[in-house]
Amino acid sequence: MNRRIETVCVRGSQTRKPVENTGSISFPIYQTAAFAHPGIGQSTGYDYSRLQNPTREEAERVVADLEKGLDALAFATGMAAVSALMELLVPGDHLVATADLYGGTTRLFRHISMKNGITVSFTDTSQISNIRAALRADTKAIFLETPTNPMMNITDIAAVSALAKENSCLLIVDNTFLSPYFQTPLSLGADIVLHSGTKYLGGHNDTLAGFLITDKADILEKLRFIFKTTGAGLSPMDSWLLLRGIKTLALRMERHQENAMKVAAYLKSHPKVKEVYYIGLENHPNQEIINKQCKGYGGMVSFRVDNESTARQILERVKLIYFAESLGGTESLITYPMLQTHADVPEETRRALGVDETLLRMSVGIEHCEDIIDDLNQALG
Ligand SMILES: Cc1ncc(COP(=O)(O)O)c(C=O)c1O
Repeated sequence: MNRRIETVCVRGSQTRKPVENTGSISFPIYQTAAFAHPGIGQSTGYDYSRLQNPTREEAERVVADLEKGLDALAFATGMAAVSALMELLVPGDHLVATADLYGGTTRLFRHISMKNGITVSFTDTSQISNIRAALRADTKAIFLETPTNPMMNITDIAAVSALAKENSCLLIVDNTFLSPYFQTPLSLGADIVLHSGTKYLGGHNDTLAGFLITDKADILEKLRFIFKTTGAGLSPMDSWLLLRGIKTLALRMERHQENAMKVAAYLKSHPKVKEVYYIGLENHPNQEIINKQCKGYGGMVSFRVDNESTARQILERVKLIYFAESLGGTESLITYPMLQTHADVPEETRRALGVDETLLRMSVGIEHCEDIIDDLNQALG
């Protein structure tokens, strides 16, 4: 049966083998480290929870279904997923990456991957000619974030996929910002999708998680080997929290978007706000690509105010909106990218990207929109 995304979110995967005989509606938490063997040389299919755990497997199957993948791997955090992914590369390999990636991913590439002999070229991937120029004979993968964090730049996934295929390299897309509800990169030609499950998938600002999803059996086999060997799998309890969060993904994404549209419109009208970056705004420079590859615009809005003191005033005055460094949960959060998500990005690079003292980023939550706007209004003064 071809189920729609809302149904997959609520009802989970179609293969709930471990609980068929109990009728349990909520998927059980298999809080066990090991599984007993029926006899010598025999296995129930479950041996040790680092390798297989039924609750984690259900979370993996649901996320794979949502992303239209063959399977998924659930990690303890998004960064654990990125680290595992980089094990697909070997010393001497080259990676092309979006210039304004999440700062933690940039830090991993600059300080860990480069130490391990992998070279990384950062470029503005919204211009396909930049990617073409960065490609080398030893390029093994292209890593995109679209929309980017925090500048909301858009890259044409299908066009980059064609380029990746021409050059026999992998295309990896971090789909954290839009979630599979609004964008499915595998169906646009990506080979691997990455998520910080901490964000919209979990959705409640209460747990950390990461996912890798692929639709290619050979890549899956390599990733499963890396997964079981490096050992950063998601715990059974956190897998269950992810399953529970995902049940309301569709509803939440609709409301995040509805609120973000209104917040973006409000910000645009405020005299102290100089620029608003939201992919749902008609004046976004990549409207054509957005309409082609996204089913919606999500809940992330960045904006630039007139000066540093206004930015600091907002962060000090917000009452309902939390000044905190995450996104994608039910609560509205506001972040100072310069001091938080991008603190480790070299200053010159950060400024060139537009991440300076006047830039703020909001993860618009699902509270009543008027309450969010009232809070922004009093904070802007
Ligand atoms: C776009 C994006 N990718 C990856 C990550 C890393 O995920 P985690 O914090 O779950 O390790 C983040 C975290 O903020 C993110 O925003």
